Amino acid sequence: MSQPTARHRLDYQASPFQIDTLHLTVQLEDHATLVTAESAIRRTQAGAAELALVGEELALVSVSIDEVALSADEYRLEEGKLVLPMDRDSARLTLVTRIDPANNTALEGLYKSEGTFCTQCEAEGFRRITYFLDRPDVLARYTTRIEADKAAYPYLLANGNKVDSGDLDGGRHFATWVDPFPKPSYLFALVAGDFDLLEDSFTTASGRDVALQLFVDKGQKGRGHHALASLKRAMKWDEERFNLEYDLDIYMVVAVDFFNMGAMENKGLNVFNSKCVLADSDSATDAEFDRIESIIGHEYFHNWTGNRITCRDWFQLSLKEGLTVFRDQEFSSDLGSRAVHRIEAVKVIRGIQFAEDAGPMAHPIRPDKVIEMNNFYTVTVYDKGAEIIRMMHTLLGEQGFQKGMALYVERHDGQAVTCDDFVQAMEEASGVDLTLFRRWYSQSGTPVLTVEEEFDAEAAQYKLHLRQHTPATADQAQKQPLHLPVRLELLSTSGQALELTLDGQPFDGLYSLTEPQATLTFDGVNAKPVASLLQEFSAPVKLSFAQSEAEQIHLMSYANNAVARWDAAQGILANAVFVTLEGDTPDSDALARAFGQILADDRLDAALVAQMLTLPSVSTLMEMHSGCDVVALHQARRQLQTTLGSALAAEMELAYQRCVAANDAPHRALKNLLLEFKALCGESERVLAQYEQASNMTETLGALRAANQGLLPQRRQMMTDFEVKWRHDPLVMDKYFSQLATTPMEVVPLLEEINRAMSHAAFDIGNPNRVRALVGAFADGNPKAFHDASGAGYRFLTEQLIKLNGINPQCAARIITPLIGFKQHTGERQQQMRQCLEQLMALEDLSKDLYEKVSKSLS
Ligand code: TRP
Ligand code: ZN
Repeated sequence: MSQPTARHRLDYQASPFQIDTLHLTVQLEDHATLVTAESAIRRTQAGAAELALVGEELALVSVSIDEVALSADEYRLEEGKLVLPMDRDSARLTLVTRIDPANNTALEGLYKSEGTFCTQCEAEGFRRITYFLDRPDVLARYTTRIEADKAAYPYLLANGNKVDSGDLDGGRHFATWVDPFPKPSYLFALVAGDFDLLEDSFTTASGRDVALQLFVDKGQKGRGHHALASLKRAMKWDEERFNLEYDLDIYMVVAVDFFNMGAMENKGLNVFNSKCVLADSDSATDAEFDRIESIIGHEYFHNWTGNRITCRDWFQLSLKEGLTVFRDQEFSSDLGSRAVHRIEAVKVIRGIQFAEDAGPMAHPIRPDKVIEMNNFYTVTVYDKGAEIIRMMHTLLGEQGFQKGMALYVERHDGQAVTCDDFVQAMEEASGVDLTLFRRWYSQSGTPVLTVEEEFDAEAAQYKLHLRQHTPATADQAQKQPLHLPVRLELLSTSGQALELTLDGQPFDGLYSLTEPQATLTFDGVNAKPVASLLQEFSAPVKLSFAQSEAEQIHLMSYANNAVARWDAAQGILANAVFVTLEGDTPDSDALARAFGQILADDRLDAALVAQMLTLPSVSTLMEMHSGCDVVALHQARRQLQTTLGSALAAEMELAYQRCVAANDAPHRALKNLLLEFKALCGESERVLAQYEQASNMTETLGALRAANQGLLPQRRQMMTDFEVKWRHDPLVMDKYFSQLATTPMEVVPLLEEINRAMSHAAFDIGNPNRVRALVGAFADGNPKAFHDASGAGYRFLTEQLIKLNGINPQCAARIITPLIGFKQHTGERQQQMRQCLEQLMALEDLSKDLYEKVSKSLS
């Protein structure tokens, strides 16, 4: 096979032809589905004489243009392409192709999952259904006729409104759907199956009734109510906050078991991974309830930011994803705890996105070069993309931002546009100059903001010297200064926020750094204050600012901003882990005093307290001191947990009791965290008691996790009990698999257990949820075993990747992440990881997905 080649952003060219309407007829059969595609072709570039359509894994049955059949010598079938003579301004093209959905294990295009036919077309899956102009700047009106066996597939669904249905010979039936909105092919969807149906309705602000339908596996109805309620909240919120209303008469959501990602925003017919939509309190945790609400919101919000206004080309992916993540974050924050949601987002950036910047896949939120588009659905494009939108929101304010949104929607509704178009609308509507800000789209990497302070008591002057620098990344050597919004507060020694004057002007707390360095001079400051910098994580940067532990404790107690208090706590805990790693003992009395106060303060939001007491993850810590021994770091972190658990035993017990009494989601979060401290201190009876008395999955799983993380003797008994109870419920068994895979045992016995789990009846290597729950959790969430010096963990992952390469390349390419970041590890580990990568590189049939990541990491 030839080596996969990259596509470049700057090579974009408009399509010489458009397709205005597409009539699809899909005759469903397991192994020989016939797809008839009739397109209305329109030439948009004078002189164009050939139409090149893309297609993959298709058997071409027939081609005709304007009702005239073409013989095989009148067209060319090249690798992945069908080239047709088209020297005319408009034409009707009719293609018949045959596909094999039942053998489609890649889960792209049309595939069959547990008795359900469904599609996944983003990014480039439509070309596995028919030859097409499968690119997001070709917008067509779709009519879809589905034919299938009636008994096996009573529901036949596609985008838009159902206009016709009826019976056919041979026990078959059909349904025809018309989507009035032009859309790119990646938003096409078709589903055929048998379901339980939950129905509801929503009346829009302008008084239109929208039918809401949720299709779930038979017997799962009880787990669908939360998603439906979330959908109604999302629809209402988007009207109120963004003034955006739904546009069709029906909104359908289908839950499927085999799915590569979380969910997909197909027009009027969202398809969801069942784990991102189904929940009841017996089987799902509070965190999962929250996540479902946010994903339901995310896909719904795409209807405007993604569907009505879409991307010109895939390099612009963050146009819709960064913006839609920002919108779903705001939705969650307006409905729940803003501080806790912000903290969750910051943790994703620091723990995962910073690592992506530091590794071989580093890319700007708008990538320049792509081999396999599926590899760019990343935390950089999504979550850093959302941070870029959030910074614009910070700079423009809510009002300015909403003016920008309104202009963006008015100007570009119905179009396929670029990130530049979005920034342009924001800039014009608000009058805020975003010239320099645009660099965030083209520059990859994590800027470091270094701050030094200077206090002159005599002059009553306090200065902050700011300096920004972005280290080179794998993809880009040269970096430029960026526009950084820096939110800050100065606290007096008694904990009051100072009224500030900056260069003689009243200062509102937001400074825009646009130069490589700057000095902020605050006058009238009589005593040295304590600075709280980068509040709310006002820019996605690493802050380098030397503060004493006493100052951090001051911030943790007095900063007005809850995220800033959390951030100070994290700084203190991170330092304490590094002190432990050096073999020293952190001052546990000081820590106990500071955190003890927080634990004792019952006015604080329990979920926030839980966040403050959660030690930074191993990956976040690695990003702070790359090159350190990851297993030693894990041990140091664990040791500090034990130290804190015993130093604060009494306070933790009191807080635990308070949580038991309160019994709501925030208190359950804190309770589970406290239980883990207790488990590490050997309080196994308490863990078992919580397991036995649990009345919901949050408590059950909290106990199970505590037992496993603490390696308590009762853990096997609890795991067995859990397995017996849930063995027939794969979605819940994922929790069992993840618990097992993240147990901090020695690698060899653990791998034996994991291998045994792979032959459990609930496990299926073809199901991405199972793979992520077991293999992904091991590689990503078990630093001790995965990074064991023997290299056994790396070899195990590699074996699985070799299997998955042939089954589901997209899934394989997602779970390889911990291996490609090998350069951040110690020398011996690097050697062993490199060997595994070389073994993969030598595979005969290495997929494009893995090729891109493996080749980049080895170069
Ligand atoms: N657009 C989807 C979202 O953000 C994500 C997505 C992209 C996806 N490719 C996919 C989902 C493939 C499932 C499978 O919501
Ligand atoms: Zn999305």
